[in-house]
Amino acid sequence: MAADAGIWADGFAALEQRARAVLPARAYDFFAAGAGLESTMAANISAWADIELRPRILRDVGAVDVSVDVLGARLAAPVMVAPTATHRLAHPDGELATARAVADAGSLFAISTRASATLADIAAAAPGAHRWFQVYVMRDRGWTADLVARARETGCSALVLTADTPVVGSKLRPSLAALEFPDGMWMVNRPREGHRGGGDDQDPSIGFDAIPWLREVSGGLPVVVKGVLRGDDAHACIEAGAAAVVVSNHGGRQLDGAIATARALPEVVEAVAGRGEVYVDGGIRRGVDVLRALALGARAVMIGRPVLWGLACGGAAGVGAVLGSLEEQLREAAALAGAATVAEITPDLVVRPA
Ligand SMILES: Cc1cc2nc3c(=O)[nH]c(=O)nc-3n(C[C@H](O)[C@H](O)[C@H](O)COP(=O)(O)O)c2cc1C
Repeated sequence: MAADAGIWADGFAALEQRARAVLPARAYDFFAAGAGLESTMAANISAWADIELRPRILRDVGAVDVSVDVLGARLAAPVMVAPTATHRLAHPDGELATARAVADAGSLFAISTRASATLADIAAAAPGAHRWFQVYVMRDRGWTADLVARARETGCSALVLTADTPVVGSKLRPSLAALEFPDGMWMVNRPREGHRGGGDDQDPSIGFDAIPWLREVSGGLPVVVKGVLRGDDAHACIEAGAAAVVVSNHGGRQLDGAIATARALPEVVEAVAGRGEVYVDGGIRRGVDVLRALALGARAVMIGRPVLWGLACGGAAGVGAVLGSLEEQLREAAALAGAATVAEITPDLVVRPA
């Protein structure tokens, strides 16, 4: 996809409109929807915009380096691809295209349990990409353990336990009422044998002991808990052995009315107190939002929908353009704020949200 400077600085709004034009209406709605009245989804975006910046002047920003280490992996920029379902609904190359773009961009791909390509095929498409595997702990623990083992065998270097989905939040867009996934797209990584049923949704009875269990069945992979919005929960995750947490409300797709992630982030950073890494997602659309997140204590951010819009419009090149654009925007924002490295993106750069 040709880089089009005009479409990037607007928070990917024009790109989303292009994706809307190329996608079947149901697929667009599946990607775009939030839960309920979509109030949390909207608040995620506005909460970042509400955070005022306090730029420094007369600092040497002749060379800006935005690279960062995330659980030991060196990324070109602190922007990772959030786990999202069924990329083949956006583009025929699906997750394979996403993985290639991520490898080229030096980013990291968190592969969804609901991916529409197999873990082996994704690994083969982009062996150099940093990959994590997002896991739901199903009622059938054997099934879950098999999946986790496959993630490890195919080179995923961490597990992301999505903890905000004991049940799936209701989406009200009318076109989704009859949404059915084409054959071969839904949960293609489901183990073929030994699946004793219990549905494809997370066991709603799991607790913090799922964290050490996942560490054990994965042979010690670091566990990242996604969906944390409170300091007490963040503390409990770290105590249970999590290496990191993601401040997330699932892009506003779960509890409508849940706090915007920009506002939840400071409490979580404080509770973790350096004992693990903290990432954040939800409504991050511009480089300046990444700057705000890092200033509030996040080590890196994840993006969900913009990747899907890039994929829909241009396959791997489209995803690459989204990642490249955010990296460039972050470079510019950091320079304008007087920060030459991510270490210099410190809390004094923002007016903390009330
Ligand atoms: C279409 C769609 C599917 C998603 N599927 C998953 C999923 O399978 N697992 C998961 O942990 N999160 C899932 N998420 C949530 C994302 O990982 C992420 O938290 C969210 O998209 C971030 O917000 P943003 O889209 O505003 O960037 C999904 C989000 C979207 C939009």
